[in-house]
Amino acid sequence: MESELTELVQTASQEIAACPNQAELANLKARYLGKKSLLNQMYSRLRDLPAAERPGFGQSVNQTRLQLEELVKLREEELKQSSWQQAENRRLDLTMPGIIPLRGGLHPLTRVLREIEDVFLSLGYEITEGWDIDDEFHNFDALNTPQDHPSRNLADTFYLKDGSLLRTQTSNMQVRVLENYPPPIKIISPGRCYRNDKADATHSPVFHQVEALVVDEGITLVDLKDALQNFAMLLFGDKVQTRIRPHFFPFTEPSAEMDMTCAVCGGTGCKVCKQTGWIELGGAGMVDPNVFDMLGIDSERYTGFAFGLGIDRIAMTRYGIPDLRLLYDNDLRVLQQFR
Ligand code: FA5
Repeated sequence: MESELTELVQTASQEIAACPNQAELANLKARYLGKKSLLNQMYSRLRDLPAAERPGFGQSVNQTRLQLEELVKLREEELKQSSWQQAENRRLDLTMPGIIPLRGGLHPLTRVLREIEDVFLSLGYEITEGWDIDDEFHNFDALNTPQDHPSRNLADTFYLKDGSLLRTQTSNMQVRVLENYPPPIKIISPGRCYRNDKADATHSPVFHQVEALVVDEGITLVDLKDALQNFAMLLFGDKVQTRIRPHFFPFTEPSAEMDMTCAVCGGTGCKVCKQTGWIELGGAGMVDPNVFDMLGIDSERYTGFAFGLGIDRIAMTRYGIPDLRLLYDNDLRVLQQFR
């Protein structure tokens, strides 16, 4: 029986020493020291021994129990130490550089558009949107555009199968508003425009304009110049200057093109303004009385001005973007530079 005890200690100590974690150690403890353990059964075998041998054997069993308890306790300590050690090794090094998560942001065009809207709202304009798909009447006829005007050409305008078209300008909204609301009118209308233009550094087949229309009694060209200068100063700062140059649009008379001093170089000349010092903002003019007449508005009583700004080119100036196509490629590496 003594040899059984020796064998027991041997296997138990091997298993305890190799035990990898606290949970398994608890199992081993139950197996070697629990109620149903071999060691416990030894006690019941005491009574089979001759009386003289009982005390000696009892003592051996007790010692074995103490020995096994000690082994378990030691292993418990070892395991505790090593899990502390592991936690210690895993401790955060707060001096390590962090992982910066990617941050979403608004597209430069969206941001410029919102800034432009805020500027006009602060000047008392209302915003109206709509009609990307429109008809010839609203995009051309009611805007006094002759039947043979080149802009109606298939090479310039995208027509849909049902005869409607993708608007080539936000000026269609002038007609939509004049049809539906009596003067006084003071609105802007931002949105997408579509032309069969080849994409290059300053052109895209899809681009953005914001239309402005102001109609009331006594509106003059001075009001137009004033609105343009106010807009440019609120968006680009006090130093910016604006000018208008004679031009032609079928729906305005007189008509003009609007420029402002280049926001990148301040007017001295750079790559963005092609060394001219000026950036073209868009077209403008006094609403042609023919347009009023066609839409049933008293052209003797009312006058008005309108302009259409090219938002993409304004965004290019605002953010120093050298090529308009970068706005449409959706390359995050590029867009992130224009925050
Ligand atoms: C017009 O579209 C007129 N409807 C503007 C207008 C409104 C005149 C109200 C009078 C009264 P224009 O074709 O010049 O005008 O275009 C105006 C601006 O749109 C341009 O100055 C330019 O900034 C922008 N634009 C025109 N075509 C493109 C294009 N393919 N890509 C990017 N921007 C463009």
